[in-house]
Amino acid sequence: MNAGYLMHGGDYNPEQWLDMPEILETDIERFLEAKINTVTLGVFSWAKLEPQEGVYRFEWLERIIDRLYENGISVILSTPSGARPHWMADKYPEVLRVNGMRQRNLFGDRHNHCLTSPVYREKVRLIDTQLVKRLGGHPAVKLWHISNEFGGECHCPLCQEAFRNWLRKKYKTIDALNDGWCTTFWSHTYDNFEQVESPSPIGERSIMALQLDWRRFISDQTIDFMESEIAAIRAAGSDKPVTTNLMYKFWDIDYFKMAEKLDIASWDNYPTWHKCEEWETARDTAFWHDVIYSLKKKPFLLMESCPGATNWQSVSKLKKPGMLEAASLQSIAHGADGAMYFQMRKSRGSQEKFHGAVLDHYDGREVRTFREVCATGKMLETLGEVAGARTQANVAVVYDWENHWALEGSCGPRNENMHYMESVEKSWRAFRRMGLNVDIVNQKSSLEQYRIVAAPMQYLFHDGFADRIRKFVENGGTFVLTYWSGVVDENDRCFLGGRPHGLMDVFGLRAEEIDGLYDWEENRICRPENAGTGKIEGLKEQYRCQYLCDLVKPSTAETLMVYGDDFYAGTPALTVNHYGAGKAYYICADAEQSFYDDFYRTLVRESGMTGAYEGEIPEGVEVTSRSGEQADYVFIQNYNRFETQVKLPGGEILFGPADGKLKPLESVVVKRKKAQDAL
Ligand code: GAL
Ligand code: ZN
Repeated sequence: MNAGYLMHGGDYNPEQWLDMPEILETDIERFLEAKINTVTLGVFSWAKLEPQEGVYRFEWLERIIDRLYENGISVILSTPSGARPHWMADKYPEVLRVNGMRQRNLFGDRHNHCLTSPVYREKVRLIDTQLVKRLGGHPAVKLWHISNEFGGECHCPLCQEAFRNWLRKKYKTIDALNDGWCTTFWSHTYDNFEQVESPSPIGERSIMALQLDWRRFISDQTIDFMESEIAAIRAAGSDKPVTTNLMYKFWDIDYFKMAEKLDIASWDNYPTWHKCEEWETARDTAFWHDVIYSLKKKPFLLMESCPGATNWQSVSKLKKPGMLEAASLQSIAHGADGAMYFQMRKSRGSQEKFHGAVLDHYDGREVRTFREVCATGKMLETLGEVAGARTQANVAVVYDWENHWALEGSCGPRNENMHYMESVEKSWRAFRRMGLNVDIVNQKSSLEQYRIVAAPMQYLFHDGFADRIRKFVENGGTFVLTYWSGVVDENDRCFLGGRPHGLMDVFGLRAEEIDGLYDWEENRICRPENAGTGKIEGLKEQYRCQYLCDLVKPSTAETLMVYGDDFYAGTPALTVNHYGAGKAYYICADAEQSFYDDFYRTLVRESGMTGAYEGEIPEGVEVTSRSGEQADYVFIQNYNRFETQVKLPGGEILFGPADGKLKPLESVVVKRKKAQDAL
């Protein structure tokens, strides 16, 4: 869905102002001034749309959509299933969620319904059908927004039965389940599927495979619920694209799987800007922009962000001047086709009355936040031609939801924290420091298009993953695997015969033992004293490493770095094995960031790849590029708190200062014609 412009707008709740029509008129006036071209309606409107069971009221919403349309503003229309009306919970208590202690919620809050409940599903289907029939054909409506921030789990009897059916489908027989889950351990053998219960603080917690399957089930059930909403939309006759708003660092749902059902990925982003260095927050946010882009490998939407200060973080910090523009541009730089807000107007009461918005309780034109929104709107309009352009990556980092669940859920080798995400982000950062675009892929993704793939801590191996790695290396790719990989199968059962399973010949080693380090402990990764081995350019004498140290025994692998301390001092800490036409590297321990920076720099140099920036990127500066049909766009952003001189690539400056002197939070966007100077 390339609208031909970048979307600017956000969640709009006019149902809260129906008795004050003058407010709605002011809204439109302000929206036009701020170059708002899209708003999201209906996210939490169910009680106004269906005030009594089966009694629908759509006229108010239609009037608002008409008014917006007359003013050239498009609509993302949301299904209201993120929060339900009181009457429904009163009449059908089964729609209320049950927690792990088997206690049912009272009515209240939001995002707390049972996603299995046939009653809930039917009520949602009916309202979605009405929504599509009454408003889905409206020319202002461009996109469906399914529910809101799906998440959480329910342990009610209906969910238990659905879980058992999910298991019956997967395992067919109880013997197969017992075998898969290793239930002979502690005599936890099941006699039949009816005995299976979801994990609970007062019940089963020791079967890791049960926990893993429960997480898979919750993820699948949520996706299934979302699909039932999409099916209702399609059945009611709308073929407009669908999205749902995903979240930051959210582990409950396998987003790769969820995104398969969506036309567009979108997400909500609320960084704590100004809490630490701006470049640190920018880096953290950028990683998630890349995750969301990678889900569909095409432009996404920043569905929600805060124009001012949120009211749910520990401290409500205002965005400093220029921050909104920089943060919005960052999403575009990483492949978004729109930067949107929560919320357009602050509500008068209730939980979010102090949450930042385009329009405050005093809604004058001169309000600082509003001026920032206007500036952002102007910038997005200037950059409209970027819409639809892809971010192209030759390198990828593997992040896999199921691996994450299994790795963090297992007892040992470190129960304090395995630091999985950190290890993924370290590799990603090293590539990003060179201005390379980076895809995040999971174990099921095809690897062919990449030159270098980094796969940190792939503890659980999906069927087929080892084969894909083998082929990738055989065909000339550079693959980097790390400690604690290829340990268990899809049921969290340890592979017999050594790790990394299925790849010991590709990596030319076998990992024998793993040492867990206390938080205060460190080891070192050092150049070996023997100059005959360990020839790798660009690495320093030594780096610190922490958390986990894999002890490996090479067969054909060459040792490039060794441990510096402890009883395994002098044994391999970094190895390479030549396999087929490619190279297979194994990093044995979690090293400090500068190790990854130096190591990947060497690999990238060897591969002949270059980023979108000529030379060394100054610290605190972020560089990305998007590739359109006619032109490429290079984005350079200064996240330092001081002016920074950057080297501009040749081309037309679409936005920002022409001399490359970037003030704090300032950015420049350069357009480069394809034929003229390809990246
Ligand atoms: C999001 C949610 C919005 C709003 C916002 C506040 O997570 O989708 O409805 O509550 O947070 O920051
Ligand atoms: Zn339930």
